[in-house]
Order: sequence, then structure tokens, then C-alpha cells
Amino acid sequence: MINLILFGPPGSGKGTQAAQLVDRYRVLHISTGDLFRYEMGNNTPLGQKAKSFIEKGELVPDEVTIGMLQNKVDAHPEALGYIFDGFPRTIPQAEALDAFLAGRGEAISRLIMLDVPDEEIIQRILGRGATSGRADDLNTGIIQNRIDVYKEQTSPVFDYYASHGKSVKVDGVGSIDAIFDRLCEVVDAI
Ligand code: C5P
Ligand code: MG
Repeated sequence: MINLILFGPPGSGKGTQAAQLVDRYRVLHISTGDLFRYEMGNNTPLGQKAKSFIEKGELVPDEVTIGMLQNKVDAHPEALGYIFDGFPRTIPQAEALDAFLAGRGEAISRLIMLDVPDEEIIQRILGRGATSGRADDLNTGIIQNRIDVYKEQTSPVFDYYASHGKSVKVDGVGSIDAIFDRLCEVVDAI
């Protein structure tokens, strides 16, 4: 099985690239952000809880996110592998994911980080906000907070997997197709 973590700051293109990787490698795309938005759209208790964090650009508590992720994986025993998008976002989430996968005889194959400079990220998110319907994509204060949270709480996850020899950085600037080719090179080498 190929189990990828698609990593990078908000607006780095994780969702866009995951959609194409799924077509090529036949793995299951799990975006925790999309799962939260689905729950919020249905106004479930989980959605209501997540909303209070998401609308500030903060992280939903680890135990909530980890539980939701595990339920999603458990619901798809047929999957040939996974692309985790937007997860893990903290070291405890990474440790929980590793333990969970190990319990299934699996492991993360690679963490691939899409490297995009801050200025470009803000422009991309604001552009996406015009059509995404995401309140957290429209407010520069919330966007800045998401970037700050990424730097403080999420970027250590890159180093965590680097210490296991699993982290790779890919240039996330350029056309969607050019970036996709760079990602495929990394995946094909696994
Ligand atoms: O991954 P995405 O950017 O779509 O996530 C949107 C928001 O969902 C984040 O800004 C954060 O508030 C929340 N989230 C989270 N923990 C995750 C994934 C998303 O708290 N693992
Ligand atoms: Mg996304």
C-alpha cells in the first residue's frame, strides 16, 4: 500500500493535487478539512464543535480530529492506500496516525510537502475564497492565523517524519500539471 501525507501550508494546493493523485494511484483521498465542512454543512454535533475553531482559523482538538480520521479509514477497508490531506497537523496527531496504521500492519510511505511562499499563499486563498464558499478563505485575519498555526503547530510534523527518513519537499509553485509531475516522480520512486 502507498500511504501518503500531502503536506504544506493552507492554500499550497494539497486538495487540487490529491484529486489528480487519486486518479493515477487509485488511493483514497481523506481531507480532514473536507470532512469537517461536510459535518458543518449538516450541522451535526461534530460540525458544531469544529465550527467554533475553524471560524477562528484555530485547530480542532486532537482527540476530535483523530477520532474522525480513524472512523473514515475504518469505513473503507477496501482502500488500496491513502492520501492524508490536512492531517496530521500536530505531533500528537502524527503519533496517533502512526500507531493506528501500525495496528493495521501499515505505515506512512512518504510525507510530501508542497513548498509555496507566504505571499503567494495569501493571494491563492483569497482567490479561492471568491468561489469556495469558505468563510475562513475570505478574511485576511483568519488566513494569517491559519498560516501562523501552520508554522507553530504543524510544521514540526515535517521534521517528525524527516527524522524517520520519510519527508520530501516539492516546489509547489508553477502550473498544476508541472507540480503534479513533480509529485508523481516522488511517488513512483517509493
Ligand atoms: O485542511 P483545511 O485547510 O481544509 O482545514 C480547514 C480548517 O479545518 C483549518 O483551518 C482548521 O481550523 C480545521 N482543521 C483542523 N485540523 C485538521 C484539519 C483541519 O483543525 N487536521
Ligand atoms: Mg484543502
